Amino acid sequence: MLRKRLLWLSQSVLALVLQTIPGTLAGSVPCAATSLVWGPGLEAKVVLPARYFFIQAADTNGRNFTSSPGEKTFEVKISSPTEPFSRIWVQVLDRNDGSFVVRYRMYATYTDLHIQILLQDMDVAGSPYVLKGVVYHEGCDCPEADGEVWAGRMHCPASFPQIDSDLSLFPEVHLQSIATEIPQRFGQRQSLCHYTIKDNKVYIKTHGEHVGFRIFMDAFLLSLTRKVRLPDLEFFVNLGDWPLEKRRPPEKLHPIFSWCGSNDTRDIVMPTYDITESVLETMGRVSLDMLSVQGNSGPVWELKNSSGIWRGRDSRRERLELVKMARANPHMLDAAFTNFFFFTHDESLYGPLVKHMSFFSFFKYKYQINIDGTVAAYRLPYLLAGSSVVLKQASPYYEHFYRQLQPWQHYIPFKADLSDLLDQLHWARNHDDEAQKIASAGQEFARAHLMGDHIFCYYFRLFQEYAKRQVTEPEVREGMEFVEQPKDELFPCYCHHTQAKDEL
Ligand SMILES: *[C@@H]1O[C@H](CO)[C@@H](O)[C@H](O)[C@H]1NC(C)=O
Ligand SMILES: *[C@@H]1O[C@H](CO)[C@@H](O)[C@H](O)[C@H]1NC(C)=O
Ligand SMILES: *[C@@H]1O[C@H](CO)[C@@H](O)[C@H](O)[C@H]1NC(C)=O
Repeated sequence: MLRKRLLWLSQSVLALVLQTIPGTLAGSVPCAATSLVWGPGLEAKVVLPARYFFIQAADTNGRNFTSSPGEKTFEVKISSPTEPFSRIWVQVLDRNDGSFVVRYRMYATYTDLHIQILLQDMDVAGSPYVLKGVVYHEGCDCPEADGEVWAGRMHCPASFPQIDSDLSLFPEVHLQSIATEIPQRFGQRQSLCHYTIKDNKVYIKTHGEHVGFRIFMDAFLLSLTRKVRLPDLEFFVNLGDWPLEKRRPPEKLHPIFSWCGSNDTRDIVMPTYDITESVLETMGRVSLDMLSVQGNSGPVWELKNSSGIWRGRDSRRERLELVKMARANPHMLDAAFTNFFFFTHDESLYGPLVKHMSFFSFFKYKYQINIDGTVAAYRLPYLLAGSSVVLKQASPYYEHFYRQLQPWQHYIPFKADLSDLLDQLHWARNHDDEAQKIASAGQEFARAHLMGDHIFCYYFRLFQEYAKRQVTEPEVREGMEFVEQPKDELFPCYCHHTQAKDEL
């Protein structure tokens, strides 16, 4: 009798414990059926240098995890049934917020790619995902003939506000005249590339001495024309740091594509060479890109150091001010030079040079200081993608996406002369929840607007809109050379683009 009662008692205790488990213990176990999987890397036709998709861990009740369930929670296997030795490099990156980004780079083209996502040997969500048909790799020269079909598959927005604004100054582009006038105006002192795209082939003529940076533009144009057929185009790319067109209407403006824009110039902005190259070289030559940064964004917010952090070189006077300020306020701000190049290095004012700090280590700190260099600081996309909050200097310089950013929503602004930087740091420390919210919104913006597919979309829409304004036929001009697609002899690729329209 006594034993029975004890048994009953223990059973009721057990029942009580079980009732509470869903909210606590059992709730913290990730579940294969309720976890979510989505992203462009699950679509055969979204050809990118590195493809990617996301996994959101959820518990048995379908509640999202908001912190990491463990770096090794999910296993991803990618294979092609027709090719036993597939050369596909896969990485699962823990974003530390309950979600993961999976990226993979294919070195050959495959048929019917199988993507299996496993949680302790159980298939997650709709796994295995089958990418039916031919799945092209980055090196494959197989452009989709219909630009709108391609843009639809890439989920490109119909327009970008910055493109509309930039091109509004150029209702008509007279190619014959810019072909002579732009080199005359800028060709001596600046470094420019004159490109013509004709029948989706790339031709170039360079002007000026320092044209090494053409490799970024060449590589991108070749990559884009492997994916989609571009309209015939003729345009000039400025390889220098500073935008060039200082004239104002009603003076005659010349259309020049630049990597950085400014309030007092009329250049047409493109994504910077930095982000462009990192898109092409993700899982290749570069280690800092918009995907890697998501898997290396440091400790969770609560564990981050509450100082501002900055490292860099002396490419602008305000940077000297920043370092001086940090030396006077070491409890608020850690800013130091890794290199002196433009100004004379006075150690008594600016301290000793410090060792290079890895970019990912910046995210040990809550507050990321973004301050102009020669022009805009091209690190902003990566800073936004991390899990810290960005403090951005007011600046006349901008990149292609700044127009879509809002102060106090995506970043904390501070004045160009840095006079309120310490105040803003104090504000952030005293409004920790709000600062964290801004950090998340900035991160969300980067994830939604600055990934590889968005960069491809931006360039494509820009070229498409510019092409509409050309009032004469683009020509392969005298002195232009043909820019050849790299040969992929190891993994030749055969195009099968035929039923494009039917599939949509
Ligand atoms: C869970 O996360 C996914 C992906 O971020 C999101 O779309 C969804 O709204 C979240 N669900 C809830 C209940 O918050
Ligand atoms: C935070 O970083 C600053 C500057 O790098 C350093 O001096 C300080 O010791 C760090 N604080 C903690 C709690 O680690
Ligand atoms: C540059 O122009 C933008 C948009 O008009 C404006 O918000 C910003 O304050 C300007 N910046 C400077 C430094 O002039």
